[in-house]
Amino acid sequence: MSFTIAIDGPAAAGKGTISRAVADRFGFAHLDTGLLYRVVGLRMLQGVEPVEAAEYLLPSDLEAEGLRTAEVAQAASKVAALPGVRKALVDFQRAFALRDGGAVLDGRDIGTVICPDAAVKLFVTASPEVRARRRLDELTERGVDTDFVTVLADVQARDERDMTRADAPLKPADDAVTLDTSGLSIDEAVDEAVRLIEEMRAKA
Ligand code: DC
Repeated sequence: MSFTIAIDGPAAAGKGTISRAVADRFGFAHLDTGLLYRVVGLRMLQGVEPVEAAEYLLPSDLEAEGLRTAEVAQAASKVAALPGVRKALVDFQRAFALRDGGAVLDGRDIGTVICPDAAVKLFVTASPEVRARRRLDELTERGVDTDFVTVLADVQARDERDMTRADAPLKPADDAVTLDTSGLSIDEAVDEAVRLIEEMRAKA
């Protein structure tokens, strides 16, 4: 039987960490849908036409090197505004969501467009400053030389583009529960997500 958990939210809000922990906890498969757009963004930077890149995307591409850079994140946000790119990626995401044994998908439009019937919908958010600080810590740990102001500007530019595009903009689904992780540690955020999901699961 399928059971879909949709987790949406802006960049660096903690969606990825929460989604992996939730998938682990419930024994579900996990798809980071941002990676699909990152692959297409990377291909665009390599000179491939984005819609074509999306149409020919293979699951193994999600393991490609270099998907986590700031440059690829911005490119992903740009190609994500193209309706042809989004359309080419719908079937793969829906098939993943409906697999037997349960699935957690995280992204920007999972609860609104990809899986409007998901049993559980969470919208994970945090203030731009908190998100920029977390992203900066993550990048610094990986040895990337950057600073708070640059990272904050990157996060805000991406939010702005993701929220204002015409096709599937970033926003909470009407029936999503919002989790603000600004004042929470990773463990607290995961615990709270699991608690909310168990509550919604009981009602589903
Ligand atoms: O989650 P992420 O930061 O890896 O996503 C990269 C970009 O991809 C993000 O800025 C917008 C786009 N994206 C999207 O439009 N829809 C999704 N479901 C996931 C990501």
